[in-house]
Amino acid sequence: MPLLDIKDLNVRFGTPDGEIHAVNGVNLSLGRGEALGIVGESGSGKSQLSFSLMGLLASNGRASGSVTFDGQEILNLPEPQLNRIRSERIAMVFQDPMTALNPYMRISDQLTEVLVLHKGLSKRDALKEAVAILDAVRIPDAANRVRLYPHEFSGGMRQRVMIAMALLCKPDLLIADEPTTALDVTVQAQIMELLGELRRELGMATILITHDLGVVAGFCDRAIVMYGGRVMEESPVDPLFEAPSHPYTRGLLSALPRLDEDTAATPIRGNPPNMAGATVGCPFRPRCDFAEGICAQEMPPLEGFAPGRTRACHRAISALNEEAAA
Ligand SMILES: Nc1ncnc2c1ncn2[C@@H]1O[C@H](COP(=O)(O)OP(=O)(O)O)[C@@H](O)[C@H]1O
Ligand SMILES: [Mg+2]
Repeated sequence: MPLLDIKDLNVRFGTPDGEIHAVNGVNLSLGRGEALGIVGESGSGKSQLSFSLMGLLASNGRASGSVTFDGQEILNLPEPQLNRIRSERIAMVFQDPMTALNPYMRISDQLTEVLVLHKGLSKRDALKEAVAILDAVRIPDAANRVRLYPHEFSGGMRQRVMIAMALLCKPDLLIADEPTTALDVTVQAQIMELLGELRRELGMATILITHDLGVVAGFCDRAIVMYGGRVMEESPVDPLFEAPSHPYTRGLLSALPRLDEDTAATPIRGNPPNMAGATVGCPFRPRCDFAEGICAQEMPPLEGFAPGRTRACHRAISALNEEAAA
């Protein structure tokens, strides 16, 4: 049984201008200890997908479909049950640590509160554990710095504190939503390395959400590529980079800055899709160099084409052949 199994997940938002279709028919499963990347440009539905499973959608949003976690249906569970799952089994870290940290509380109080409340530890044991977890995320001089307030830490250190907070209850699944996007490149690399080490130590499954395909390369076993709220391609990470199959994935790859080559990064032309209402045909079509008539008429189904790989593209095979022939 997979740890997480998502079937036909849809997220809609009601707005005065009509319905926003943020996530459309997503199927996904994740094994224990596995690291999955969710990649796509901003606005492609990555965050709303994860918010919906955590019961964290904005009040104008609703989710449908099925999400089982460890065999239990968790989509749209009542708040008390969700709360329990969120504090004991699934944890989340965000781009901005201040969404998870209280600026007016000492780190020690924020960390021990969780342990006292959910694990029934005494205050003293909770403090010991809090220092140990700050050590584990490599905060120097944790025994003293545990008494500080969030603003007394640098951006990178604050991100470590949020990770510590997420790991307190030893979750089975960690969802990291753009965890390094706000940080400079060196700190980014350190945080990703830390997350990787912790994941292996704790045997924790991880979903890494990012707009940066490059971040996925070193961290994930497998990735899905999202566009317009849909999965466009799913693949183990190595072949995804060596032979991206979907024109959108190839666009994302070409848009990456290359350190090893002289070729300049080429951004994908055009604008992100309008998510209002249902789309007819492939949402990427207006930006796709390979689009043909059929792409405007039918959304291509996700089809398997290699071991562990699927893609949703009418044109993937012929487009690749044409390019090879040219
Ligand atoms: N509360 C809301 N009301 C209406 N639309 C929303 C709301 N929250 C998010 N959206 C829309 O849902 C789409 C997907 O957003 P999101 O999942 O946050 O994208 P990203 O891939 O950048 O994480 C976007 O078009 C966004 O504008
Ligand atoms: Mg997001």
